[in-house]
Amino acid sequence: MCGIFGYVGKKPAAPILIEGLKTLEYRGYDSAGIFVPGFGVVKSVGPIANLEKKITSDIKGDSGIAHTRWATHGPPTELNAHPHLDMSGSVALVHNGIIENFRELKESLVVQGVTFKSDTDTEVLIKLIGSLYAGNLYEAVKNALKRVRGTYGILVQDEHRPDVIVAARMGSPIVLGVGADGNFVSSDPSALLTHTKKVIYLNDGECAVIKKDSYEILNLAGKKLQKNPETVEWDLESVQKQGYEHFMLKEIFEAGEVIESTIRGRLILEKGKVRLGGMDAVLPKLASLNRLVIVGCGSAYYAGQVGRCMLEEYAGLPVEVELGSEYRYKRNLSDKKTAVLAVTQSGETADTLASLRSAKKLDLLTLGIVNVVGSTIARETDAGVYNHAGPEVAVASTKAFISQLVVFAMLTVLIAREKGMSQAEAKKILDELNALPSVIKKYLSDTKDIKKIAKKYSGYKNAMYIGRKFHAPIASEGSLKLKEVTYIHAEAFAGGELKHGSIALLDKDFPVIAIAPKDDVYEKMISNIEEVKARSAPILAIATEGDSHITDVADDVIFIPKVHPILQPIVSTIPLQLLAYYVGVEKGLNVDRPRNLAKSVTVE
Ligand code: M6R
Repeated sequence: MCGIFGYVGKKPAAPILIEGLKTLEYRGYDSAGIFVPGFGVVKSVGPIANLEKKITSDIKGDSGIAHTRWATHGPPTELNAHPHLDMSGSVALVHNGIIENFRELKESLVVQGVTFKSDTDTEVLIKLIGSLYAGNLYEAVKNALKRVRGTYGILVQDEHRPDVIVAARMGSPIVLGVGADGNFVSSDPSALLTHTKKVIYLNDGECAVIKKDSYEILNLAGKKLQKNPETVEWDLESVQKQGYEHFMLKEIFEAGEVIESTIRGRLILEKGKVRLGGMDAVLPKLASLNRLVIVGCGSAYYAGQVGRCMLEEYAGLPVEVELGSEYRYKRNLSDKKTAVLAVTQSGETADTLASLRSAKKLDLLTLGIVNVVGSTIARETDAGVYNHAGPEVAVASTKAFISQLVVFAMLTVLIAREKGMSQAEAKKILDELNALPSVIKKYLSDTKDIKKIAKKYSGYKNAMYIGRKFHAPIASEGSLKLKEVTYIHAEAFAGGELKHGSIALLDKDFPVIAIAPKDDVYEKMISNIEEVKARSAPILAIATEGDSHITDVADDVIFIPKVHPILQPIVSTIPLQLLAYYVGVEKGLNVDRPRNLAKSVTVE
């Protein structure tokens, strides 16, 4: 995610800003920039080291604001990097979050003669602030924010008032660091720790006017608030993990926020419609496709398999799912009414990219579901959807996978509506999707049973995952997670397939994880579980809350909330991620960096 850092004090600001940005590097970013009053804006694409090279010793100001950008609106270019300036070129802004109504704000500014240089929502916000600025920066920020819908953590500074930084927060963190020799502000307390342990967290709707030896906290109504600094006791690494023991756990627990961010501004609930801006241009083609081929690797491939179930079941679109490493070498028999959809977190996976390029050679329509904005696959596809899941640090994909399923659910409704799905049916799905973040957050608020169960299952050398229909690929994803972070040999099968061979493996030392929510194949799954039970294999079931029968057949049960069938695989995935995580921790393994694996596989 983007990172923010600001300083106003007595020392040269540029080196402090650069150091602050370096502490934020772990969050992931693609470009960076600083603003020092009197010296303007310096930006660069790529590592902070690129920015550092551009900072000359004559940049001597003792205050400034800085940003690392993880692209959301527009590719990672210098033009899109922050800080952005108002029309006068003297007021600068850094921003984390998404301004949802940026299009309508932009239109109203264009009418006033305001011009834009970048593709970003952030530039719209600073141009709005600039248009309302009449000498009091806090007033201008406050009045602009009253017109904004969306999320933000911002810092604003005026060239002519280098002694003041205005900060504000709505849904995106801002924390002040109260120092002896000046004050600091960041989106992340870890960036403050080398300077001070005294911090003040802003709440949503709060602003701060920060000077070198004072600060004032106010709300958007202009009322002053009394907030005293608290002392941060954590060290740097634990602050970066926000108190979680590992990035993997933090990223699993981010699922609710990730879904919020993936759906933000994309659901038109009252009309039962989905708006995916990146697909607008190709929507008529999507609705008349003969076939969609989904290509991905690892977890992205399994997300594609769930996507196939969604698209076939609800949109009536025939779908094939191919491994990137296979599709690229296959004889391609696609007709012109076939589109190829690449699913990838990093947007750089070599096999997925090669598959995409081979589809392009045949002149097929190419699409992407990509998390990293501006990545190669995002740039090379004809159209696509960004996940907005934020950077994933742990090697094992968790939150990106969840977000991929959410995009597939939205894509399904988008296409299904073109092909005749009723408004009422779509609305039902979208209402539930909109409510999903709170369902997931509630579910994640009590997971101690999963930890206990993980301890019990951590001693086995093998595991078999089974599921049917939507949950067959979820079984595969669950087994992949277990393999990656625990090194336990795990296999996955569609429940009905066991009897054709693999059931021979089972005995009392070979547990089976059965994903058996109450859906239209529940009875079939129960029969499969009975078959397993007859071979004395220990059974851990993932089942729907309130299912009283499941405890008769399974040794252990993890209950999950019931949601709309198209969304159920999203919920079912979470306990499987947690199970793998807790087993890995129980075995004392490095769950964030498993052996032999790389986060992004950019070689064949
Ligand atoms: O960046 P991508 O989504 O293209 O990566 C694909 C796979 O390499 C990735 O999902 C891998 O399987 C993960 N380690 C799974 O946890």
